[in-house]
Amino acid sequence: MASNRTLAIIKPDAIASGKAGLIIAHLQKEGFAVRAARLVRLSKGEAGAFYAVHEGRPFYPELVTFMMSGPCMPLALERADAVGTLRTVIGATDPAEAAPGTVRKLYAESKGRNAIHASDSDENATREIGFFFTEGELAGLWG
Ligand code: CMP
Repeated sequence: MASNRTLAIIKPDAIASGKAGLIIAHLQKEGFAVRAARLVRLSKGEAGAFYAVHEGRPFYPELVTFMMSGPCMPLALERADAVGTLRTVIGATDPAEAAPGTVRKLYAESKGRNAIHASDSDENATREIGFFFTEGELAGLWG
């Protein structure tokens, strides 16, 4: 059965352009409840570790530099079929290819500066939620 939890990160471009509130409202309108949130500035080590699955790919150094360039906002989200639904709601990686009305079509600048990250599997959602939030924190926050 699909899990009801996933992780989003509002990326530094969207925080810097003041779009965080609009993006959170968009996600809530799509039925997601925010169970945990935090504004963080990632170190190089943290950004590199979070995206370790992409290590060695040509865009990895740029991705790590971008993710540590300013504050970002991880969100632990809940709704039915959370992972699949969130990926549909945010749209394609490249905003030029994203469907109308998706978060990236509305708020992203480019494939690199693309406003939001979302977990791509239930397994990664568990790992990524754990990257930012402790079990103890979540136990007190999750309904
Ligand atoms: P995200 O969903 O956060 O996962 C990895 C990120 O790498 C992706 O969004 C993009 O922002 C970034 N990226 C930059 N260039 C590319 C590329 N050519 N292919 C895939 N992802 C890329």
